[in-house]
Amino acid sequence: MREGTANIVRREDYLAPAYWIRTVDLTFDLDAAKTIVASKLFIERNLEQMEQPLRLHGEDLNLLRVLVDGQSVSFRHEDGMLVIDAPQQSAFTLEIRNTVAPEKNTQLSGLYASGSGLFTQCEAEGFRRITYFLDRPDVMAVYTVTLRGDKQKYPVLLSNGNLLEQGDLDNGRHFAKWHDPFRKPSYLFALVAADLVAREQRVRSRSGRDHLLQVFVKRGDLEKTEHAMNSLVASMIWDEHRFNLPLDLERFMIVAVDDFNMGAMENKGLNIFNTKYVLASAATATDADFDGIESVVGHEYFHNWTGNRITCQDWFQLSLKEGLTVFRDQEFSMDMAGSASARAVRRIGDVRSLRERQFPEDAGPMSHPVRPDAYQAIDNFYTATVYEKGSEVVRVIHTLVGQQGFAAGMALYFQRHDGFAVTCDDFAQAMADANPYSPLAHNLDVFKRWYSQAGTPRLTARGEYNAANATFTLYLSQHNPALPGQNDKLPQLLPVAVGLLARDGTALPLQLAGEDHAVGTDRVLVMTEAQHTFTFVNVQADCVPSLLRGFSAPVVLDDGLTDADLLVLMAHDTDAFNRWEAGQRLALNRIRAALNSDAPAALDDAFIEAMRAVLNDTRLDPAFKELALLLPSEVYVADQVTGIDPQRLHSVREAMVDQLATALHAEWEAAFAANQVRAGYKPDAVQSGQRALANLALTMLVRHASLTGDTVWPGRAYQRFKDASNMTDRLGALEALVNSHSELAQPALDRFHALFRHEALVLDKFFMLQGRAPEKDGRVFARIKQLMQHPDFTLTNPNRARSLLFALTAGNPAAFHRTDAAGYVFWADMVITLDTLNPQLASRFARALDRWTNLAEPYRSAAREAIARVSAKADLSSDTREIIDRALAG
Ligand code: TRP
Ligand code: ZN
Repeated sequence: MREGTANIVRREDYLAPAYWIRTVDLTFDLDAAKTIVASKLFIERNLEQMEQPLRLHGEDLNLLRVLVDGQSVSFRHEDGMLVIDAPQQSAFTLEIRNTVAPEKNTQLSGLYASGSGLFTQCEAEGFRRITYFLDRPDVMAVYTVTLRGDKQKYPVLLSNGNLLEQGDLDNGRHFAKWHDPFRKPSYLFALVAADLVAREQRVRSRSGRDHLLQVFVKRGDLEKTEHAMNSLVASMIWDEHRFNLPLDLERFMIVAVDDFNMGAMENKGLNIFNTKYVLASAATATDADFDGIESVVGHEYFHNWTGNRITCQDWFQLSLKEGLTVFRDQEFSMDMAGSASARAVRRIGDVRSLRERQFPEDAGPMSHPVRPDAYQAIDNFYTATVYEKGSEVVRVIHTLVGQQGFAAGMALYFQRHDGFAVTCDDFAQAMADANPYSPLAHNLDVFKRWYSQAGTPRLTARGEYNAANATFTLYLSQHNPALPGQNDKLPQLLPVAVGLLARDGTALPLQLAGEDHAVGTDRVLVMTEAQHTFTFVNVQADCVPSLLRGFSAPVVLDDGLTDADLLVLMAHDTDAFNRWEAGQRLALNRIRAALNSDAPAALDDAFIEAMRAVLNDTRLDPAFKELALLLPSEVYVADQVTGIDPQRLHSVREAMVDQLATALHAEWEAAFAANQVRAGYKPDAVQSGQRALANLALTMLVRHASLTGDTVWPGRAYQRFKDASNMTDRLGALEALVNSHSELAQPALDRFHALFRHEALVLDKFFMLQGRAPEKDGRVFARIKQLMQHPDFTLTNPNRARSLLFALTAGNPAAFHRTDAAGYVFWADMVITLDTLNPQLASRFARALDRWTNLAEPYRSAAREAIARVSAKADLSSDTREIIDRALAG
């Protein structure tokens, strides 16, 4: 357990290391109770640094001996580091022997046990929990690793790179020796010792090299690995095709593990994955799970170049690899989705999650720039800002330089920095230098404010049509609100993609004043200053501006459009993202108005008719309709208003959903009937869109039945639940019953549990579904507390813990924010309990109350009290301490 010392690490204090570690030779005698680690390091003094003692990181280690060039030396422990006085030689060999206890490692960082196997997780600072080391990403070495262990317990012994040798030892033991030819930082080291089986595929890359791809899972899970393998092959092909980046290893392995803190990890040649992002069959995984696997397999695979071949100089540069790799996985998923509409559906999903997770983060106590300036625990900065906003910032570059310019920038980035640990500045510079005539190169310093300034910029737009001159003038201004410690922010580089629609929906040709002819109906205006005015000429009709198409910059847009304008966009915009957005804005306006009034919430006919038109529109894809018919989530709305009352918001939104269920009953019936997939199951965009819309329709029909007392649709839902041939349909029907608190919900849940009680990932769904059901009279919260006692529930498996705890805090505001504060009391107890087990998980859970200052009373005071109670605990981990202290400061 780490102590809660407030050691703050600052970006400005970066210094190159005093020593380099060139080669690493590790030998493991593997045992769950006590593993012996022998490490032999070839070290060189960094002659550019002052002579200093050698200081090595180490945590929870039992040190047996230290030798320098074969001789014992004196050493001491200082500030949690192992200090060895400066050896005389400028290059020497350091040998260390220590032990670790994997089965006691509940943090799941370092070497730990999961089931009967042993696994590692070293990012960000887990390697120091295996052996003493310069555990920082700018120290890159070539690793040779020998694994020794019981052959029956651990028939599979894996590490990074290529297998050099394997064979039997005495006493039923065996060994394997691995060598990774690529220099890498310690966070990319991995080992696995377990009883696993592999799906294998041999592929030849475009460059003609042969590779062996392997997906390792527990016995019995092999038939659930086809989609992961297909995704891996597709990732390989895509990266070669789009970026000219081939696989550089003979062998590429993915290993699935039950207990894992995050989604997956890109260890060189040996990716380790949460089972959730590997295992899928039609019977056990939903369409969303299949998509998640494709995107995470892609993400980790793409890290091989963006992260591993070029890594981060220090952890402040985390977005260098994460923002860029998220951008790459988003592009990959869009390319895999196929049609323009399917791409837009992907984009809408990405933006929704950015707004629901990153926007609130950027407005709260954890607000930080994409490249943070200080941290206590780096694990706390694997955030939506670093990942998702980081990706949007990369997308800004892509928008400014175009797809070819971006590819050229990537090529230059690899030409300059392959094999090195670099910074976000280096990336931006390569992109600019490869595109010298682009707005990026002309405004590089303005662009780089995306890395240094936190907060979500506000973009205000007003348009003015002048019929006499046939001009349309667009006034754009930007403002980035001050945050604690961040005043006076400078304007940022915003690409604003625009189109103009005549009121009949026609897309108008775009010609700016000073240009001699119109160029298309869609273009990008570039803002570099606080205010800009753009005048379009030869505009033959009054029009509605469609701004920030495709969400071309991660900002909050105030375009001042009226309901009438938004209805034009919703019906006609050629940009599918803005078409969806117009509907969301109409809905948000109505929710806002209802929150500000005491009258019962009611949707007006204009809105309902617009929704009816969407449902009836035969040209729209089902996947798009499903997104358009969903009202903005409570989580999103809560971030859009100040002084939020979560109970009032819930009742307003629920009333509106009831209204849509009632007013569009006939359309929901038609949509349900029209979207039955009769072909064999495929998790593709077309089928999954149909299933999504059918499931939404079913939910609405069962909801309507619960309002009228009708029993037909609940009966049909139960039947569909029983007969379903895939998990998406089965879970959709179950959800329709549970969410409407139908009498058939419990029998369905019992049956679901009986069917899947041996499927860990489905049990997670069993808990999550109940934890996320719309709250009604406190029943859902009571159910969550009861489910904590369920024999299948445990806090030690992160997926299972999340299935109930995060379902409550992140997925169910009305169950969590209660007037009697019971949700907050529960939260505080759980943060304290989890922190003793797994600080990374605890500190993520702790973030549930980040936005407490935005709550209305009595929630606000009660939330503060709960945070203060956690803060009063003296022995919090530094992970949780950082989150709690920041939250308390507001
Ligand atoms: N680098 C991993 C990714 O984005 C993230 C990750 C996996 C991680 N496990 C972790 C980060 C543990 C911190 C701690 O793909
Ligand atoms: Zn990543």
